[in-house]
Amino acid sequence: LTDTYSLKNGIKIPVVGFGTWQSNNGAEAYNAVKWALEAGYRHIDTAAVYGNEESVGKAIRDSGIKRDDLFITTKLWNYQRDSYEHTLQAFGDSLSRLGLDYVDLYLIHWPEPIEYRDHWQSLNDNSWRAMEKIYRDGGTRAIGVSNFRETHINELLKTAEITPMVNQIFLNPGDQEKNLIKYNQDHKILTEAYSPLGTGQLLSRPDLKKIANKHNVSVAQILIRWNLEKGYLPLPKSTHQDFIKNNTQVFDFQLDSDDHRLLDQMDGQGQQHTEPRLHDFQKIVPFLE
Ligand code: A2P
Repeated sequence: LTDTYSLKNGIKIPVVGFGTWQSNNGAEAYNAVKWALEAGYRHIDTAAVYGNEESVGKAIRDSGIKRDDLFITTKLWNYQRDSYEHTLQAFGDSLSRLGLDYVDLYLIHWPEPIEYRDHWQSLNDNSWRAMEKIYRDGGTRAIGVSNFRETHINELLKTAEITPMVNQIFLNPGDQEKNLIKYNQDHKILTEAYSPLGTGQLLSRPDLKKIANKHNVSVAQILIRWNLEKGYLPLPKSTHQDFIKNNTQVFDFQLDSDDHRLLDQMDGQGQQHTEPRLHDFQKIVPFLE
């Protein structure tokens, strides 16, 4: 868990992060992050729209772990990004909810909010200019995007002075996003995988169970390992201490070529995640309605 990838600006990022989407603010998110840090995670991923930055930040601060030894990501949500100033404001609000002086990575969470569909290009340009300022001022050690397709990044690159270092996307063997990942690689953008377990939906697949049994590990571990062997950065989420621990034990086995062949064949068999995700967010963050 202390192994790292290097971002294009030289910043090191632990190869597995702890995901907190759908962990509720309060005891649930607090305990999940506390257990994750106890289990050895040093990379925690949250977002303004998850509604749990306060509990996530408190668990981080209470852990007593040196801030320098942690890698913390948060994200800019759609309700505060209709201008350069609002983006700066949103970042300040996230920092104060987290109770931190800086984050390690700040991402634009959503490329094309429905309410800005006819001018998403200028929306992203303005947010990105603010993100560049936050980065230059030391508020964050890296900047990037999430859920961006090739076209969104191409547009951003027309005006960006600093290019995105990360693209965090829905990614697992059921939805392998090969073209987008090739694009990310060509642009030296690290691919982070949210929902690396397919939000849990891949865990009961018999073909994956067979691979897991062969290695004497869980299906979750197989899926996390698949991400690592591909060079992606998985962000598994859990609120159970035993799962949280289990998901850290991914460094003492390797998938073989048969496993990879089977996993490669699963592409397209997962649920696709694009716009419907917004409804999921709206369920957990009532003020978006
Ligand atoms: P829970 O949160 O109840 O602990 P993803 O990371 O793809 O979004 O998947 C998260 C889902 O997978 C959650 O429902 C989580 O359960 C479940 N999960 C996470 N790790 C494990 C594990 N090691 N074994 C079984 N289920 C897991």
